[in-house]
Amino acid sequence: MSEEHKFVTLDYREYPPEEMKQRAEAFYKDMDRRRTVRDYTDREVPLEVIENAVRTAGTAPSGAHKQPWTFVLVRDPEIRQKIREAAEVEEKESYQHRMPQTWLDDLAPLGTDWHKPFLTTCPAFIVVFAQNYAVEEGAKKKHYYVQESVGIAVGMLIAALHNAGVATLTHTPSPMGFLGEILERPDNERAYMLLALGYPVSDCKVPDLERKGLEEILRVV
Ligand SMILES: Cc1cc2nc3c(=O)[nH]c(=O)nc-3n(C[C@H](O)[C@H](O)[C@H](O)COP(=O)(O)O)c2cc1C
Repeated sequence: MSEEHKFVTLDYREYPPEEMKQRAEAFYKDMDRRRTVRDYTDREVPLEVIENAVRTAGTAPSGAHKQPWTFVLVRDPEIRQKIREAAEVEEKESYQHRMPQTWLDDLAPLGTDWHKPFLTTCPAFIVVFAQNYAVEEGAKKKHYYVQESVGIAVGMLIAALHNAGVATLTHTPSPMGFLGEILERPDNERAYMLLALGYPVSDCKVPDLERKGLEEILRVV
C-alpha cells in the first residue's frame, strides 16, 4: 500500500455455508428463468428501476478501473423510429446478402428475420457504447480491455433488469455505426450493443431452447 493512494476497508460479507448454498441456488434458479423476449407491450418501465439497473452495471470491474462505458437510454418515439428504420436497412442487407447460409440455419430456430418491431413497440431501449479511449483536456487517454469490461457490465445490466422483472433483448444490428450517428456520440465511443427492455406480451412465446448442462461447461482440475 503506498501512502499517496488511499485505501478503504472492504465491505465484505461472509455467509454460513448453508446460507451460501441457498443463495447460490436461488440466484441460479432465478437467472435460469431469464429468456430473450422479442414481443413487448408498450407499458413504461419505471425510470428508477432502469436507473438502478444501470447503476448496477456501473459497478462492474473494468481494466484499470477506466469504466469505459456509456449507456444511452432511448425513450423518445421519434428517435426509436429512426433507429428502427436504420437497423432494418442493415438487417435486411445482412439477412439477404451478408450472412452465409450456415448462419441463417443457426438462426432459424429463433424465428428472427430483418424486421425489428420491438424497437418501436418496447417502451425503451439502452444503447451501450464502449469508450475505446478517453479524451481529457483534448488529449487521448488509454483504456484497457474495453471489450471485456463492457461485456461484463452488460451482463450485470441484463441480470439487474431481470432481477427487477424487466425482460430484455440483446440486439446487435451489424454494422452498428448508425447508432453513434443518430445518438450523436463522440468519436471515442463505438456502439457495442442495443438492449431492448420492457414487459412481455401476455402469453409470450419464446424458442424452446436447451442450455448446456454443468458437465458440458465446467471442468474441474
Ligand atoms: C451478443 C449477442 C447478440 C445477440 N443478437 C441478437 C439479435 O441481434 N437479435 C435477436 O433477436 N437476438 C439476439 N441475441 C439473443 C440470442 O439469440 C439469445 O440470447 C439466444 O438465442 C439464447 O436465448 P435466451 O437468451 O432466451 O437464453 C443476441 C445475444 C447475444 C449474447
